[in-house]
Amino acid sequence: MTEWNGFVFSALTPDPPPFAASFDLPLDRLADWPLGDLVVGHRLEKTIQCNWKVFWENYNECLHCPGVHPRLAQLVPIYGRALLERRDDPRWQDHAHDDDPKYGGGLRRGSESWTMDGQPVGATFPGLSAEDRKVGHLYLTAYPSVFLVAHLDYVRVVRLLPLGPERTEMSIEFLVLPETLADPQSDISKAVEFTNIVMSEDADVCALNQRGLHSLAHANGVLMPEEYAIRQFQDWVRAELTRP
Ligand SMILES: [Fe+2]
Repeated sequence: MTEWNGFVFSALTPDPPPFAASFDLPLDRLADWPLGDLVVGHRLEKTIQCNWKVFWENYNECLHCPGVHPRLAQLVPIYGRALLERRDDPRWQDHAHDDDPKYGGGLRRGSESWTMDGQPVGATFPGLSAEDRKVGHLYLTAYPSVFLVAHLDYVRVVRLLPLGPERTEMSIEFLVLPETLADPQSDISKAVEFTNIVMSEDADVCALNQRGLHSLAHANGVLMPEEYAIRQFQDWVRAELTRP
């Protein structure tokens, strides 16, 4: 059992890997966010009709973003180009110094957070650097259970729980400053609504993918170079299955 910034993590194996090694980024990458001081502003639950691995495969590519997430693709222009980040562009060198979010990532100009109007839900976190504020979203992932997305005004925590071979429960919590929760001028619902749209779109496409796996024509999939992160996920699954 490990307590970290108000989160409690428990490992079901007697010999778990080091806690920090469970995450894809160094934990101090989130040091500027006051995680331990935040409170739950809202909670959403969804059951997705897919295997948990289908969810994570979808999570690891943005080829689907322009078609599946029209609103998100507008807010995060590089997603609208089916890319997760600058380095995913085979021609990134052509725009290596271009600050346009369509090449560099981050939110469209004039938007600050993942909300319906792009504006913060309430007070923004003090202590964030200019870079933290500019990025718009910072993902921290720990397979197979959880990912966090830190914005400048709220942090989204998404937990996955397999309910069966083709059903996965997703629990989403919106963490905000206590003063945001107490302030009647704050509007957490615009973050909840935005997230609900995006996650419902993902849930639908994951369910479709799951159905497709039952197709008589399906033998196996083929990964394209753009799907390198899916390959990494599948390698992780294989390694975990053979870990002593
Ligand atoms: Fe998606």
